Amino acid sequence: MKAARVTDVLQESEHVWTVRFDLEGSALPGQFAMLWVPGGEEMPMGLSYIDWGSKGATFKVVGDGTMALSKLKPGACLGTKGPLGRGYAIKGADIIAIAGGTGIASLAPAIELAVSGGKRVTVVLGAKSAGEMLFEKRLKRLSVNLQLATDDGSLGKKGFATDIAQRLVEKGGYDQMLACGPEPMLARAARMAEEFGIESQCSVERHMKCGLGLCGACALGGARVCVEGPVFVGKALLSMPDFGKRRLAPSGKVISF
Ligand SMILES: Cc1cc2nc3c(=O)[nH]c(=O)nc-3n(C[C@H](O)[C@H](O)[C@H](O)COP(=O)(O)OP(=O)(O)OC[C@H]3O[C@@H](n4cnc5c(N)ncnc54)[C@H](O)[C@@H]3O)c2cc1C
Ligand code: FES
Repeated sequence: MKAARVTDVLQESEHVWTVRFDLEGSALPGQFAMLWVPGGEEMPMGLSYIDWGSKGATFKVVGDGTMALSKLKPGACLGTKGPLGRGYAIKGADIIAIAGGTGIASLAPAIELAVSGGKRVTVVLGAKSAGEMLFEKRLKRLSVNLQLATDDGSLGKKGFATDIAQRLVEKGGYDQMLACGPEPMLARAARMAEEFGIESQCSVERHMKCGLGLCGACALGGARVCVEGPVFVGKALLSMPDFGKRRLAPSGKVISF
């Protein structure tokens, strides 16, 4: 584990925060890091910023670990392991990215890389309501076709991000779909991509302990999400019986989505 120095802590919405830290080295969009606040457990977090000298994580406060992370102050020390896992492999000229909630955290660097590589990018950014929309300003600064969607219609189009994406995909022209968000949303995106003959890459989450491929906690369909994932080709995910249906809690209890 490496010690990193926290440089910025930013509140993005009521429950979502970004912590930036000064970790040097390259990272691929979609990779994650294990983050450790002294006194707590290690937590896997997708990297929402992947600059050479500065990385970041954008997360929802859901328990003690994420609460401790949100309370860090610039100058504090943060334990880091990573970047880990497989990120997005961007292919083709015309890309559609579908993000649900904090899913935009790991997708944003992939979108930025695709745009800087001259790809045409459509982003469908979904949230429950206007107050929970993340990275709208960050994406508006890029030359992307940005479509906002909220479940309650308080910002952008009313409906799930996948509903809005379906209308765009039906018109054709996309070479690849990238997706990150709640697993039922990913399952729908992967099925849609299959139906329309588009390659899809989806970032999935499973409970992680080591993050290094050693403990087996993150197993999904014979793969270790921390090593072979978290980004998988959608076609491979659709062949895994648990994908979109159930996951294991830290206790080993099966939880249905
Ligand atoms: C590859 C990967 C990338 C992730 N990226 C992000 C991200 O970018 N933004 C974000 O908000 N969240 C992300 N998560 C989820 C994040 O790891 C959990 O929200 C966090 O660990 C919760 O810790 P806690 O102590 O606050 O909550 P706890 O009270 O410990 O748990 C609350 C819930 O968080 C989940 N969780 C807890 N510990 C883990 C763990 N070790 N591994 C996986 N899930 C866990 C469980 O669903 C649990 O029910 C990611 C998870 C994985 C596996
Ligand atoms: S978290 Fe231990 S094998 Fe993936």
